[in-house]
Amino acid sequence: MPATVKSRKPDLSARLLAWYDIHRRVLPWRAPKGKRADPYRVWLSEIMLQQTTVQAVAGYYRKFLTLWPNVQALAAAKQEDVLAAWAGLGYYARARNLHAAARIVAQQLGGTFPQTYEGLRALPGVGDYTAGAIAAIAFDLPHSAMDANAERVIARQFAITEPLPRSKPAMRAALQLLVPQTRPGDFAQALMDLGSAICTPKRPDCKACPWVADCRARKRGIQETLPVKAPKTARPLKRGAAFVARDRGGAVLLVKRPDKGLLASMLEPPLGEWTEDFPSAALAEKQAPFAAKWIKRGGVVRHGFTHFELEVEVYFAHVIKSPKTKGEWVPREKLGNVALPTVMRKIVEHGLDEGGPLFAYTSSARKR
Ligand code: ADE
Repeated sequence: MPATVKSRKPDLSARLLAWYDIHRRVLPWRAPKGKRADPYRVWLSEIMLQQTTVQAVAGYYRKFLTLWPNVQALAAAKQEDVLAAWAGLGYYARARNLHAAARIVAQQLGGTFPQTYEGLRALPGVGDYTAGAIAAIAFDLPHSAMDANAERVIARQFAITEPLPRSKPAMRAALQLLVPQTRPGDFAQALMDLGSAICTPKRPDCKACPWVADCRARKRGIQETLPVKAPKTARPLKRGAAFVARDRGGAVLLVKRPDKGLLASMLEPPLGEWTEDFPSAALAEKQAPFAAKWIKRGGVVRHGFTHFELEVEVYFAHVIKSPKTKGEWVPREKLGNVALPTVMRKIVEHGLDEGGPLFAYTSSARKR
């Protein structure tokens, strides 16, 4: 740890809070100045904000509050409705954990959120970062919330040049020493705002920063190089086929994914196995959910998951008489209201896209 991070820095904290009092962002989940936010709202927003931007979250946050204004209402919701409302936000385990945690709070904890870091950390979907953020923002407990913004600010302030993730413990220790005994919730949010508005990844606005006088990276002119990240490992590529069937009324066949694993319990059009290559026409015919005149659409649908990239070739069939098959036929206008994740929505749209070039069913697997 750098020498300067051994002691508390009340001056840095005070300067950041004074900056925050003037420049704080107005955000849908943020309490007005001087007020403490409702723990349900803080928890809901922090779960949504995991790996997701403020812009992407705002609309979902409002929708959830309208549908389920408190933890009891969310606990009483059906899981499929929660997954449907979450569709498009990604990382769907968050929605399942959100629902499970709501049930624990409503049914086992008398409707009150735990008021300690440890109690919060024990809820499904709440990791170190989220427990720290909720403890600080909802309960003004002296905890910190080390997200990517905070990591960037701290790495620069103390010129921590060791690459992430190895530097995480040093960063956490440095940040914890800055947390003030009064207004720790505002301090956590101030750091988020500083990282988002001033201490940006590229071209940080150092002149406007309340910490510039002490910033060790700035003194050395290395601020834009920090934090150093370990090189990313290449994600493997998987390929497969999807089958988009439309009936006479325009409804699309969707099936439910298994309860466990990737995109658990979400809906999808019938899919073949994901392997190194696309299936041949003969194999795709076997993978199709029923015999029909399947037509392969041109192009592929690509999607990046956390641990792999996916490419999907899409086959389309227009069925006159709905065949007996697993799944449900969902009317096109309802597709926006069901638990269809973004990648599956892209596949369905590609399948239904009449304008796209159509290739003969017999074409074989292609290399990239
Ligand atoms: N990122 C994570 N939590 C946040 C919050 N409460 N406000 C703004 N950005 C955030």
